[in-house]
Amino acid sequence: MAAAGDAPRRILTSIDVEPEHQRAARAAFSEAGIPPQRTRVIGGDAVQVMGRLTDGAYDLVLVDADEESYPAYVDQAVRLLRVGGVLAVHGMLGHDKVADPASRDTVTTLLRDLGKALRDDDRLLPALLPVGDGLLVAVRR
Ligand SMILES: C[S@@+](CC[C@H](N)C(=O)[O-])C[C@H]1O[C@@H](n2cnc3c(N)ncnc32)[C@H](O)[C@@H]1O
Repeated sequence: MAAAGDAPRRILTSIDVEPEHQRAARAAFSEAGIPPQRTRVIGGDAVQVMGRLTDGAYDLVLVDADEESYPAYVDQAVRLLRVGGVLAVHGMLGHDKVADPASRDTVTTLLRDLGKALRDDDRLLPALLPVGDGLLVAVRR
């Protein structure tokens, strides 16, 4: 058993394409008391940036951005997570439209198909939590 003081020094990485939102992330981390050397805010398109990050080096990946790119973010996230790490994907209920078969717009269909793909992905152990707009969490096997 490791004492809290022995915990590895983790880094919190945030990616956002908007400079204003990057500033907001830095301010939020600072207000939360996280030392700047423990955070990394990277500007740019998340698919491009994630593609440059190290395989199997992350404990948690939270996806919360443009839904059109969710499949690409999830592909990258699965690669980035260590075994036992957790993928969290925000908004998977799609404002309750995902569960409505009559809703077939592009984003709803994308989220519905992504949910099925995650359920069937042998690399993941997923659960959809009915909180907010639906938080899908999945443990990387
Ligand atoms: C709903 S907000 C999420 C904010 C954050 N997760 C939070 O809870 O405060 C979506 C964010 O995704 C960012 N975003 C949209 N498209 C992006 C992209 N292609 N690459 C990186 N960030 C993107 C937006 O700038 C915005 O800050």
